[in-house]
Amino acid sequence: MDWDDKVLVVDDDLEMCGLISDVLKEEGFSVQTTGESLEASKIIKREEFDVIVTDLKMKGLKGLDLLEETHRVAPLTPVIIITAFGTIESAIKAMKMGAYDYITKPFQMDELVLTVKKALETRLLKKEVFRLRKEIESRYDFHQLIGKSPSMQKIYDLIERISDSSSNVLITGESGTGKELAAKAIHYNGVRKEGPFIAVNCAAIPEALLESELFGYKKGAFTDARSDKKGLFFEANEGTLFLDEITEMPLTLQAKLLRAIEDKEVRPLGDTNSYPVDVRIISTSNRDVESSIKQGRFREDLYYRLKVIDIEMPPLRERKEDIPLLIQHFITKFSSESKKKMSVVSEDALKLLLNYSWPGNVRELENVIQRAITLSRHEVILPEDLPASIVQKADEKLFEKAIGEKFTLDQLEKEYIRRVLIETGGNKSKASEILGLDRKTLYRKLQEL
Ligand SMILES: Nc1ncnc2c1ncn2[C@@H]1O[C@H](COP(=O)(O)OP(=O)(O)OP(=O)(O)O)[C@@H](O)[C@H]1O
Ligand SMILES: [Mg+2]
Repeated sequence: MDWDDKVLVVDDDLEMCGLISDVLKEEGFSVQTTGESLEASKIIKREEFDVIVTDLKMKGLKGLDLLEETHRVAPLTPVIIITAFGTIESAIKAMKMGAYDYITKPFQMDELVLTVKKALETRLLKKEVFRLRKEIESRYDFHQLIGKSPSMQKIYDLIERISDSSSNVLITGESGTGKELAAKAIHYNGVRKEGPFIAVNCAAIPEALLESELFGYKKGAFTDARSDKKGLFFEANEGTLFLDEITEMPLTLQAKLLRAIEDKEVRPLGDTNSYPVDVRIISTSNRDVESSIKQGRFREDLYYRLKVIDIEMPPLRERKEDIPLLIQHFITKFSSESKKKMSVVSEDALKLLLNYSWPGNVRELENVIQRAITLSRHEVILPEDLPASIVQKADEKLFEKAIGEKFTLDQLEKEYIRRVLIETGGNKSKASEILGLDRKTLYRKLQEL
């Protein structure tokens, strides 16, 4: 028995409460008591108990009500009912409702202690079963996305829930976090998978071309328009239009896109007619869209139309538990491509890969593994097969360097701030939290830097 096991005793007979509490405390439990069943229902909402012992007949809330309440807020907590002799029927009712056990008054304290201990064992087992079930349920991949971390599980769940709807989705996240993979997962997981998935990179197509690419044109709309062209928006009918790097779209085109979304129709350049379309738009951005809005480079009304659902892809450094899984995935992929018999990463190399902060996220990891497989002359990836930036980062021990180069406190502080910023990928709120500075002070110090 350890002191962490918490028991709540509920009985309006305060003397009985005290007695039970003393005995259980002697057995090493941490015990809380209350004579008020209503109070008890508040306590169980606030705190988690390992066992609850409650009288059946009380003023206010009844023992059975408390039992129900416990099932709702703490389904794994066993409830032991104390009942007076002669009310055995309600005890049976309690058992049917899922009470762990009951004891009738008058009872021996030994009997109670034994029942509490047995209840605890059952709870432990239940918890273990619950944990195992969760583990079985947790997914290691979803469509092409790999990752078993809680943050990726959330992404998979969200995608499952939204893929059948037609609401527009905005996917944000740093470069290389898998935004495009997530967009494809949404498309291919839903009813639109029979329709086309049309990708347009707003940053890669010259401004002048983007409009006619997206919306099409009528023959003769401009010199080179020798025949009618439908446009990608129309091509995506009954499917998904993937607008990559949406913040790079010029403002004039943003207005036209907004109109197409609102009217559910497109009008090609030089055409007097509009054509109805049924398209789901998934767009991405790897920068803070809201700051683009503030700078007047992106329309706020369009933003709200695009992010009916928003998904934020977590950076790799915040889900390092996925790194080994990803490494294995890329090793399999590239060793079969290069026909090399490569199977594992050495322990030292893995340590370096886990310590690195991955500013380029999964894409960077993918490139590092591909390069290592190409370079390596063994069947194991060794530290020497990794790029210098990853190896050096870990080697460079700040304190050793500071002592060796005789740093002043000021220099050490600056170096530490710099390192924290690298770790957080330049996120100043996170950095100021780690450093224990308010943002203003951090900004001032950065300016000195
Ligand atoms: N969770 C993941 N599992 C497996 N591969 C991934 C994952 N995330 C990203 N990748 C791989 O990393 C590379 C980059 O992914 P993707 O193009 O989807 O990222 P992105 O967020 O769109 O990046 P960018 O902002 O630079 O366009 C791809 O080769 C992709 O296969
Ligand atoms: Mg992308």
